[in-house]
Amino acid sequence: MKSKRSVLLALVLILSASAPALSQSSSQFFREPDLMTIGVYYYPEAWDKGQWPRDIANIKKLGMEFIHMGEFAWVFMEPKEGEFDLDWLAENVELATKQGLKVILCTPSATPPVWLTKKHPEVLMIDASGRRQKHGARQHACWSVDVYRKYVERINTELAKRFGNNPNVVGWQIDNELTHYGKPYCYCPHCQAKFREWLKGKYGRVENLNRDWGNAFWSQQYQNFEQIDIPNAQEFVALPNPHAILDHQRWFAEEAADYIRFQASTLRKHARNQWVTTNFINRYPPVSPPLSGRDLDIITWSLYPVAGFYQDGAEGFRMGDGAAMSWMHDYARTINGAQGVMEMQPGQVNWGPVNAQPYPGAIRMWIMRAFAAGSKLVCTYRYRQPLFGNEQYHYGVVGTDGVTPSVGGRQFAQAMQDVQTLRKLYRPNSKAPARYAARRTAFLYNVENQWNLDNHTQTTRWDTWGHLFKYYRALKGFGAPVDVITEDKDFAQYPFLVAPAYQLADEKLVRRWTEYVENGGHLVLSLRTAQKDRRGHLWEGEYAAPILDLIGASVESYDVLPDPLKGKARAGQKVYEWGVWGESLKPKPGTTTLVTYEDQFYAGNVAAVTRRMGRGTVTYVGVESLTGELERDLLRRVFASANVGVENYEDQFLVDWRDGFWVATNFTSKKQVAPILPGAKILIGTRLVEPAGVTVWSE
Ligand code: GAL
Ligand code: ZN
Repeated sequence: MKSKRSVLLALVLILSASAPALSQSSSQFFREPDLMTIGVYYYPEAWDKGQWPRDIANIKKLGMEFIHMGEFAWVFMEPKEGEFDLDWLAENVELATKQGLKVILCTPSATPPVWLTKKHPEVLMIDASGRRQKHGARQHACWSVDVYRKYVERINTELAKRFGNNPNVVGWQIDNELTHYGKPYCYCPHCQAKFREWLKGKYGRVENLNRDWGNAFWSQQYQNFEQIDIPNAQEFVALPNPHAILDHQRWFAEEAADYIRFQASTLRKHARNQWVTTNFINRYPPVSPPLSGRDLDIITWSLYPVAGFYQDGAEGFRMGDGAAMSWMHDYARTINGAQGVMEMQPGQVNWGPVNAQPYPGAIRMWIMRAFAAGSKLVCTYRYRQPLFGNEQYHYGVVGTDGVTPSVGGRQFAQAMQDVQTLRKLYRPNSKAPARYAARRTAFLYNVENQWNLDNHTQTTRWDTWGHLFKYYRALKGFGAPVDVITEDKDFAQYPFLVAPAYQLADEKLVRRWTEYVENGGHLVLSLRTAQKDRRGHLWEGEYAAPILDLIGASVESYDVLPDPLKGKARAGQKVYEWGVWGESLKPKPGTTTLVTYEDQFYAGNVAAVTRRMGRGTVTYVGVESLTGELERDLLRRVFASANVGVENYEDQFLVDWRDGFWVATNFTSKKQVAPILPGAKILIGTRLVEPAGVTVWSE
């Protein structure tokens, strides 16, 4: 007989499973034949009223299709508490409408007005050093404070009432880059209280928390939830408890998603036939876009490839990391099927360590890479180059005179013409070429692994993104279409599944991997996978216990080498260098050795294995090579053993297929040859693709 509790639980599960998602189908908003649309940010409140008509007319003349407004304008929308002025915005919406431009409006919550923060200083976030922030920058408010949410709800409601029925306003952006930038977490009393509530909900009894946090060590036992503070590294003589950190990261991401959900539902009370998004920071782990997949109609993000962070190749610092931006496209798109770039750099920026000029043509190439990756929209930040304020030296689509298109502005115009060309050639229901579809790969990613790996790297040489990208770049080098998926997705639709350094796992996930392989899938796992359970505990048993049957080997030990020491590992005739991480595996009968160590005291030990299982294969790579070449060679072997042919593109030469169009984008510093089959028709560009060049063809 079922207990009352389990009946109740079943009811709760049924109810939550059937809870409607807020998000609407993206095809309702983004028509397939339009392919992609391009627009620009404009801040009318910062410019002379007399220039509005001129600026908006010039935006149209450049070929732009929409204009993005309202972001950061709270004090102009609500100059005094409860007194609203949206007429200036309405006037600009009207001007845009007359020009035939669509409008995206933005909620202004990233910039609370000074009257609000003076009246309610408790809405200002508190940083890790315990300092309350002040008015004068942005993102200084804490979104966990109820009174702050009340103010946000009120201004959003005013906006949605005024513009929610305007057919020319097509969509809404919530906030902007939800974060407090260099001070990621807030430590205010409201956050403290909400974190404790969340812990209570998760653990029920403090004994459970003590068990899962391993508080038996160092006498860390708590006696009630009220004693628990947010783990703030600055307040501990040693590192804070790692399980507490992990839970705080979980809470923070869920709280951010809750805030996004709250804003979305406020807007939707009045908005009709308008999509809702927020603009995420590119690859920023504290806020997790998949948590908002059901709340947003499209996932959008910021893309700034040239700001001094990427150096590979002679011109790499001017073109940016094409593979890294591709990863984010593949991640954002897969969450709920619709993605776009809400902010794209139009030229030099002002905030990076070294703000170089982008390479000629690079901006158009980024736009066309976004196109190739299935983006529905690209918006450039920003129209006018600012003459004052925090973003001086940041380029715009037009220069300091407010009218002359910048180099980047002209590239946006060119990309819009490219899209117009392709729209004319669009044919509905085109099917991906078989050779491309056969390489379809899922790249399994869970931000929780990233948090936990980064919290305890075990070697200063460890770089989570660096490790993941060795696999991802190899896949793009093969010309594979990649979906970066989370665990809620079905693995079965992908012939290949790659899950590098998937540290936190449980029996259920391992069962799903095993079934996937038995049913014919090709699974690739790498070092550190399933080292820990979801709490972040090591297993009471063998190292990486749950996957040992699956990979057909045991993980006897691992080693890390101090910089700049290099170890050697051999696969067949080829020797590779490694230094970050190397596991010694012991294969079971029936498992094939792929790589062995050449040196160190464990020379001869096994570093990578593979085996057939059911109708599929599983490959485990226990070592990370310095250049990524070993990863590429081992992945190539996996595709070959599945009889799937792959390309051999140079790293950073990216080729994808979308809606009937092949698109090649060349992020390398050399000319590349587009892989155009005989009989195919070149639509844009040439067979020989220059650095930062784009070629589009159909076959
Ligand atoms: C973005 C931010 C924008 C603007 C831009 C400057 O990260 O969302 O508001 O500051 O950087 O490049
Ligand atoms: Zn707070």
